[in-house]
Amino acid sequence: MHGVRLSARQLNELELLRAGAYGAQAGYSLPAAGATAASAASLGSHVATLRIPDIAPGRVVTLLDSEATPVASVDVVDRRTSAAGTWIAGPVTMLREPALPPFPELRPSAFSDLAEDAVLLMGARAGQLAGTVIVMDEGDPSALSSTVRSLQRDGVEVRVLPRPAAEHVTGEAERELLEHLASVVCASTVVVKRGSDRAPGGGAVVLFTGLSGSGKSTIARQVTRRLRSEGTQRVTLLDGDEVRAMLSSGLGFSRADRELNVRRIGWVASLVASHGGMAVCAPIAPYASMRAEMREMAERAGRFVLVHVATPLEVCEERDRKGLYAAARRGEIKEFTGISDPYEAPVDADVVVGTDGESVEECAAAVVRYLTASSGGDYTI
Ligand code: ADX
Repeated sequence: MHGVRLSARQLNELELLRAGAYGAQAGYSLPAAGATAASAASLGSHVATLRIPDIAPGRVVTLLDSEATPVASVDVVDRRTSAAGTWIAGPVTMLREPALPPFPELRPSAFSDLAEDAVLLMGARAGQLAGTVIVMDEGDPSALSSTVRSLQRDGVEVRVLPRPAAEHVTGEAERELLEHLASVVCASTVVVKRGSDRAPGGGAVVLFTGLSGSGKSTIARQVTRRLRSEGTQRVTLLDGDEVRAMLSSGLGFSRADRELNVRRIGWVASLVASHGGMAVCAPIAPYASMRAEMREMAERAGRFVLVHVATPLEVCEERDRKGLYAAARRGEIKEFTGISDPYEAPVDADVVVGTDGESVEECAAAVVRYLTASSGGDYTI
């Protein structure tokens, strides 16, 4: 048996298949080659698709839920392999109910009829809404729960649309597909409203990146102190050296070890954010790709803010409080960031501090100002 564990979004897509959102025949189709936003309006993109990492020989692929229980099988009649994986197509046989998703009583299978008019909320809730509101399950139970509860408190009738993986569409084509699915399984008339981009729980991940000795930890500590004393949000500090003593003890400084270190920090930070907290992290995080991965993980749970502590190498080296730069220059420490290992300066930082010899207080104040500045919250239709 070749088992493929489905992501939360892929399980959503399977749920939509079961609910008949793609028509009476339950099955996956290959995406139309070269599908674009322009072709999205055509029925061609209103299909369930499944891309899996690799495919073993044989015709049957078993689909596993989050608990690794087989929930369905696909009789593969067609496939297409690309660099990102293999698309498979064929009829689906449901084997058993997947592990219960959040709010089962609000999901399509709980209703025998469609609501009349409903608003399909995209993005986070940012103001008053009334009537029936369709909230998307994006695969983050905490965010979903916070949105549903706050709408219910306001007397709004809520329905949940499981957001499918739908990896064959992006941008406008994806929006169009979601609107279509909502009109098939949730309500006969659907109006899309785009909320704020900020996740509903108010969680945030703040990543300080910069060379060793740049002042990241000191500034991050100061920011944490100020936010704790001034704000209402709970703040968790994940300092680079502290993480290496605990969560990442045993890891070295090869690219692979640094990636694993930053991935672990990103994972913990995203968990904190998904519960509405703020995680302030201060590893060197020298590679753009690892910061991008952390951004992606964090933005599923909340807001992501990148702070570049851009203290020049000469200044860091002159400070050399730990004597590490001198040791690296003598060749006693291999792969030392800035000396014998790369530091890819970010081009996507939200805040840059430390270039002009500002004090720790000035740097911290600039970051706090950025973090507390309000973000707009109006809906756009
Ligand atoms: S990261 O690259 O994986 O993000 P991290 O912030 O956890 O690095 O650890 C960096 C700290 O480890 C530095 O502040 C320094 O004290 C210490 N260190 C020891 N060896 C190295 C090295 N080869 N390169 C960079 N920092 C090192």
